[in-house]
Amino acid sequence: MTTLRSFAHVALGGLVLVAGLACVQAGDQPAAKPAGAPAPKPATAAAQHAVADLKPTQGSTVQGHVTFTAEKGGVHVVADLTGLTPGEHGFHIHEKGDCSAPDGTSAGGHFNPGGKPHGAPDAADHHAGDLGNIVADATGKAHLDAVFSFMTLAGPDSIVGRGFIVHAAADDLKTQPTGNAGARQACGVIQAQ
Ligand code: CU
Ligand code: ZN
Repeated sequence: MTTLRSFAHVALGGLVLVAGLACVQAGDQPAAKPAGAPAPKPATAAAQHAVADLKPTQGSTVQGHVTFTAEKGGVHVVADLTGLTPGEHGFHIHEKGDCSAPDGTSAGGHFNPGGKPHGAPDAADHHAGDLGNIVADATGKAHLDAVFSFMTLAGPDSIVGRGFIVHAAADDLKTQPTGNAGARQACGVIQAQ
């Protein structure tokens, strides 16, 4: 009888253990459910896509369309412009999404949340809005397809809501704080899509 009793004891112990596990699971479930539910989107929700329609400033014929797509390694930018003089043109993201001034100056200076000097997009230090130059062909058309690793559509450094400017001259990538790129020939507000 000793053998049977100890077997029963082990079996009972096992039941208690199983009941204990079930209890832990039941206790965890209610707390886990709300956490797993989709959280409401905050007002500063990260955009996946953004666009900018570039309109000519006064006296300019430059216009175009730019798309921005968030990717793993940064933001993929595709730009198509017309009405340019052949050659290099500086283009930047400017601080303000305001193209109301006839000369585009309402867009402010280069977007620079990090307080950096102006520079080339591949330099160690540069404004977050420094994108270098876009090159127009003999017919005045320019196409750009590039990924900028330092660019983001989310958080405090997001470019959404800011201005996109194309200039009359090339950005020399060193003159402070503008790159000496000349007049603003086209302006557009970067809008989430
Ligand atoms: Cu600019
Ligand atoms: Zn700059």
